[in-house]
Amino acid sequence: MKVAIIGTGYVGLVTGTVFSECGHEVTCIDNNEDKIKVLQSGKMPIFEPGLDEMVARNVEAGRLKFVTDLAQPVEESPVVFIAVGTPPTPSGKADLSYIEQVARQIARHVNEYKVIVEKSTVPVQTGEKVKMTIEKTVGDGMAFDVVSNPEFLREGSALEDALNPDRIVIGTTSERARGVMKELYGNFKCPIIMTDIKSAEIIKHAANSFLAMKISYINAVANVCERAGANVMEVAEGMGLDRRIGKNFLYAGIGYGGSCFPKDVDAFERISTELGYEFNLLREVQSINKQQRKIFLRKVEQELWIVKGKTIGVLGLAFKPNTDDMREAPAVEMIQELQAQGARIKAYDPEAMSNAREMLNDVEYCTDAYEVARDADCLLLMTEWDEFKNMDMERIRDAMAHPTLMDARNVFDPQEMIRLGMEYRSIGR
Ligand code: UDX
Ligand code: UDX
Repeated sequence: MKVAIIGTGYVGLVTGTVFSECGHEVTCIDNNEDKIKVLQSGKMPIFEPGLDEMVARNVEAGRLKFVTDLAQPVEESPVVFIAVGTPPTPSGKADLSYIEQVARQIARHVNEYKVIVEKSTVPVQTGEKVKMTIEKTVGDGMAFDVVSNPEFLREGSALEDALNPDRIVIGTTSERARGVMKELYGNFKCPIIMTDIKSAEIIKHAANSFLAMKISYINAVANVCERAGANVMEVAEGMGLDRRIGKNFLYAGIGYGGSCFPKDVDAFERISTELGYEFNLLREVQSINKQQRKIFLRKVEQELWIVKGKTIGVLGLAFKPNTDDMREAPAVEMIQELQAQGARIKAYDPEAMSNAREMLNDVEYCTDAYEVARDADCLLLMTEWDEFKNMDMERIRDAMAHPTLMDARNVFDPQEMIRLGMEYRSIGR
């Protein structure tokens, strides 16, 4: 089936590539000419494990291409995905202006029945507005349906998540559109949830907010554990083996970041308020998340006593491992706060340093963790890359001016660190 995907960011690029891998003929469209040129030249605008090979394979097979103009692909494809960004506005609401613009552009090229799919994460009732926008422009007698089909992929494991999802959610009551979507997802073996468009929109916000809530919950528990002298990792294991709770997303740390959880929890809380329900639980989820970053900063300050003039090494900048994404990465706030207090910052991340350069000033970027450690008064482990889990800790200790390790992700064993003679602090242990 021919498929047009508008917006070639993390979501659009991965979705389009996976559909081409399934045998569909996919055109990815983006109004950012530089991004399309990069993709046409065979390079990736983002780092995502395995993506470059899968893109190359499908481009080679003639099933995947990249263009800037949506006219022809929209006219030729029975299914058109909208995967443009929905960044938060200063008030916290999702900015839906790109969705509106794209809906109008699509409408001008509806030449036969089309299924227009909302892939971007949007507040409930956006689908209705997209439908209304298209209706105003589309030619007389031109049929179309709007479907909500949210994406659940995680950066860093996006291909695996998109190829083997836990479920596929299809929101539309139109039988015709359901038929097209079933054909599109014909190769997938997971459960397919058929629902209405508003329920599908809420599934995405409710699922992401629930996962964020799990993280804030375990972070709050970690703070109690720390005060009581308990170990949050063992508490999480004991909780998680109860199948009703589940062990995933119970890792205490420095709080969630990234382009989805912070934005989606905020947007879900706001749309609930607009609809007349105060979802105070979600306010608390956000507040715990913000507090978690401050608590870690206070620990670093306590450990250093005077921050001014100290050399602080930062291991990991991305908001999570296996990605170069720095959106809402806790390392940014941490580095800026410590710089404001007069610290010198050295840092290393396996993939995120070029994005970090655009967001941070006066950071000395290093070629590996050992260079970061050299003459540092303190090391902060901010992202749990495997590369850091496997470091030679004796070499790290010996390179430092003062062997102090602040582990924001509970990567290391406290007893082992003490045995090595490191000052070591982590979360909830
Ligand atoms: C974004 C949202 O953040 C997420 O909530 C949503 O589910 C999907 O879109 P992501 O793919 O990570 O996720 O965003 P981003 O990497 O910013 O990509 C969006 C792309 O859309 C960009 O490449 C941008 O150039 C493109 N775009 C934007 C268009 O092609 N046309 C527009 O009018 C606006
Ligand atoms: C998330 C959702 O998981 C995905 O379904 C959705 O489509 C997009 O948003 P992503 O943001 O890429 O994916 O990464 P995820 O692995 O969910 O992690 C989000 C944040 O939570 C990261 O900052 C991570 O470090 C943090 N996290 C995750 C924890 O602090 N503890 C955990 O137990 C799990």
